[in-house]
Amino acid sequence: MSYATLAAAATERLRERGEALILSVESSCDDTSMALVRNGREVVSCVMSSQLVHARFGGVVPEIASRQHVEALSHLAAEVLGEAGVELDDVDAIAVTYGPGLVGALLSGLSFAKALAFARGLPLVPVHHIMGHISANYIEDPGLEPPFLCLVVSGGHTLLARIEDYTRVRILGSTRDDAAGEAFDKGARILGLPYPGGKHLDTLAKKGDPGAFAFPKAKLDSPLDFSFSGIKTDFMQKARKYGDQWLLDNRCDLAASYQYTIVSMLTDASLLAQERTGDTRFALAGGVAANSLLRETLAKAFAARSVRFTVPSPALCTDNAAMIGSIGFYELMEGHTGNLSTNASPHLPLPRV
Ligand code: KG4
Ligand code: ZN
Repeated sequence: MSYATLAAAATERLRERGEALILSVESSCDDTSMALVRNGREVVSCVMSSQLVHARFGGVVPEIASRQHVEALSHLAAEVLGEAGVELDDVDAIAVTYGPGLVGALLSGLSFAKALAFARGLPLVPVHHIMGHISANYIEDPGLEPPFLCLVVSGGHTLLARIEDYTRVRILGSTRDDAAGEAFDKGARILGLPYPGGKHLDTLAKKGDPGAFAFPKAKLDSPLDFSFSGIKTDFMQKARKYGDQWLLDNRCDLAASYQYTIVSMLTDASLLAQERTGDTRFALAGGVAANSLLRETLAKAFAARSVRFTVPSPALCTDNAAMIGSIGFYELMEGHTGNLSTNASPHLPLPRV
């Protein structure tokens, strides 16, 4: 029997059963991760290999990232199964991020996932990286079901969306230029913090006064959109004007004030979106969702409005394969499977209603 016939039959069986143990692969940027996730919600095991090598270049070097993914993948597969005490025979399907991301990095994970799916006659479930970030919330909150509102803030994306069902979203607003994560990383770089700097800036900000320095907030005609290029440029200009010693003497206050301004822009738009739609559930997703001020501010504001607020634990906010296994389950249940011709898609758009 051909692979296509075997995989199609397996997909139908799993959809009828409504259950699946998924082995998931994430390699869209500089973290290689694999997980085993049951029925979209239960993480059986999740392992990770982070590429620290990029820090010295101040950003991800795509060629190095692809090579390191290839080296890490087979070790991680053995580790994720070993840790869970699960045999490959117990795995029902393979989910993998196929976009958006760095093309070489995506191809490393996708080729591995295809080879495994082909060798075992298992369904291949290609998933959108950002749908994965959103789905980390299903792991965090077993009671959370669409529809709900979600603020997605990662290194490459910043958007407000209504999650209409498990596999489709409606975009309410998005960034006109940089992502929130890029703004955090740029600010951190100006302050001389290592890459990626978001979490270091977050730590430094805890010791500073958020009201010490004024940074500009973008004013847009569509208030659910975002722009972070202005605040980045303003910080660069301040740094050039006042010099290194000034940066060093004021680093905690600068970190706190810069962070406060970015978080205000994100929370203002989130609160307005909730007011407009009247939705009573709101989730936060993406690497920047690990930011302590953003988590606290939204949690407080939504508690005051009796809106149920969900945010994944910090380890599930940044890139990981558990979230890929979660969305993989829901895509599989919809019959959204790939085949051996499925290609990486570096600019893959979000699936919309
Ligand atoms: O979602 P993610 O892991 O990768 C992408 O899909 O882009 O997001 C990475 C981004 C980086 O810009 C990183 O600096 C930022 O998330 N980040 C943070 C924090 N932890 C990670 N930004 C602010 N505060 C944090 N605690
Ligand atoms: Zn990500």
